[in-house]
Amino acid sequence: MKPIVLYSSKGGNTEKIASEIASELNCSYIKISKDFNSSTVNIRDFDLVFLGTGIYGAKPDADLLNYLNEMNLKNNVIFALFITWFGRGTTDRAVYDKIKATVEAKGQILSENCYSCLFEGPSIISRRLFPKTRGHPTAEDLSNARKWAREFTKNKSSIGKKVEEISRRDDKT
Ligand SMILES: Cc1cc2nc3c(=O)[nH]c(=O)nc-3n(C[C@H](O)[C@H](O)[C@H](O)COP(=O)(O)O)c2cc1C
Repeated sequence: MKPIVLYSSKGGNTEKIASEIASELNCSYIKISKDFNSSTVNIRDFDLVFLGTGIYGAKPDADLLNYLNEMNLKNNVIFALFITWFGRGTTDRAVYDKIKATVEAKGQILSENCYSCLFEGPSIISRRLFPKTRGHPTAEDLSNARKWAREFTKNKSSIGKKVEEISRRDDKT
């Protein structure tokens, strides 16, 4: 599979995970921001796209969402989501659901297999509110991100099968 990492990162946390994954898979990692010119990367050249975002008020980054809403894809691509967060409630689920709906609206698949990484907040208040973030990301968190990404590329055959099954199902309808 030919992977690429697309991510947004307001404060640099998600970028850290994006760079770990890209270095593990020896692929590019590209930051999506408001000024991102989508013609600089041809997403059609890839069949495994890692998407990374922080969580902002239970939502994914708006620039990443805009990019996904505007992308134009004819081939089947597998999307895999990684997030960085404070671990607040089920905001990870809300973000997953939003990205999934956006990706599926483009006829694509978002894998259920996501990676989430806690990041200690920058302020005393955030550290008090979210004590479980203390010390994160750990070296283990970073190595788990690499492992997670590596396993995606290894499980190529089963992911590919899923695409075919879904395509066939679509053909019947
Ligand atoms: C305005 C704002 C809202 C946030 N909302 C949430 C949230 O709803 N749930 C959560 O777990 N973390 C939340 N966070 C924490 C961020 O998701 C976390 O710091 C993330 O790593 C930021 O990624 P970035 O540095 O790549 O921008 C919020 C942070 C900010 C600044």
